[in-house]
Amino acid sequence: MVQDSEKTALLRNKQDGVYWQPYTANRLLRANMEPRTMVSAKGAYYTNSEGTKLFDTLSGLWCTPLGHAHPRIVEAVRKQAETLDFAPSFQLTHPGAISLAERIADLAPDNLNHVFFANSGSEAADTAIKVALGYHRLKGEASRFRMIGRERGYHGVGLGGMSVGGIVPNRKMFAPIMMNGVDHLRHTYEPSHMAFTRGQPTWGTHRAEDLVRLVTLHDASTIAAVIVEPVQGSTGVVVPPVGYLQRLREICTANGILLIFDEVITGFGRMGENFGAQRFGVTPDIITFAKAVTNGIVPMGGVIVTDEIYNTFMTGPESAIEFCHGYTYSGHPMAAAVGHVVLDVMREEGLVERVRVLEPVLEEAMHGLKDLDVIADIRNIGLTAAFDMKPAEGKPGARGLALFEAGLRNGLLLRCTGDTVSFGPPFISTEQELRDMAATLRRLITEVC
Ligand SMILES: Cc1ncc(COP(=O)(O)O)c(C=O)c1O
Repeated sequence: MVQDSEKTALLRNKQDGVYWQPYTANRLLRANMEPRTMVSAKGAYYTNSEGTKLFDTLSGLWCTPLGHAHPRIVEAVRKQAETLDFAPSFQLTHPGAISLAERIADLAPDNLNHVFFANSGSEAADTAIKVALGYHRLKGEASRFRMIGRERGYHGVGLGGMSVGGIVPNRKMFAPIMMNGVDHLRHTYEPSHMAFTRGQPTWGTHRAEDLVRLVTLHDASTIAAVIVEPVQGSTGVVVPPVGYLQRLREICTANGILLIFDEVITGFGRMGENFGAQRFGVTPDIITFAKAVTNGIVPMGGVIVTDEIYNTFMTGPESAIEFCHGYTYSGHPMAAAVGHVVLDVMREEGLVERVRVLEPVLEEAMHGLKDLDVIADIRNIGLTAAFDMKPAEGKPGARGLALFEAGLRNGLLLRCTGDTVSFGPPFISTEQELRDMAATLRRLITEVC
């Protein structure tokens, strides 16, 4: 329910947009606010201000795999607020952050044993870029300043993440402030070679050789790091071709280039393993994380780095700050407390294993839509999936918008970007909920297209 005290603000917002929203068609939202106004959430469902219960098909924004209002998280927030609600992490510390760092490092592969906390995926990406630059400089290789991103990549909206990102609308307005010396690999998504692939496509491995070309063009001695999402999430679930990430690893290792996996979406179970690194059997030098680490309840992000990187920073005078970087809220006690509960619940309820059980169910449900004429592609991996609809004549994005709005009236909260619809349901979803979601989608697609 919208409270009486909030109604005036909502009305005012409709007229003058006092709340300028991120990544939103603000005027469209204000013209049709009621179904898009979320007022409560429980388990795998939101309720909007019209009282419609909506299945949360993207776990918020890929961030709430345990569902909403989990009683143990609610309790942890209350308890932590009473005990230690804030503690500076500059020159001071607290046990919650230390022990959470230890647990996260234990989940990460091999020798990624050191965690630096931030508050979002964007901050995590920018932190990773700074770590890579600092590392090479401390090793006496300051000439390594270039960053290699990938077309269609999303690494948030900080200056670093935006520069290595590869989604055009996120870049063009800000061209004058792009980081120096960034280049991009081509993406690996070519529907003519891989449409309707279940899991990893076999086509596209050769696109990793783009990195060899960039090394040849720029010389390895100028390249600091390559940053990729193991699965490109924001651009609509682009799954890595078989062997592609392995080949990137080989080329990076051969040329002294750091490999950064942006695991803001793939981290903490969504791939059916702790991290995408383990799912794909490739160990990067740096992993970025955010979102699911706190089930989206309190913002948190961070990077996990190898012993080699950490130890390289831990040099110079002992009283000197080794890495002049960090955030007021790095390792925030509230986030750390929630992070602990999230990891407890994931372990006790076997949720990472559950993703492996749900993966074929989601795959079957989504690929069952293949016969609809309007569907151009369907793809999936872990507990993620996406489909593309053929654009309506002269109106790209119109079908996505119509489907999104139909979802709001029919019990599905959908994530539509243009005519692409992405899915990352909560790990607590039942098999039946996933099948029902697909059945509702079939009905709505048929209605609106
Ligand atoms: C891979 C990846 N990196 C970074 C980000 C940015 O995260 P945030 O919105 O928390 O800054 C996102 C957000 O979706 C993401 O998917």
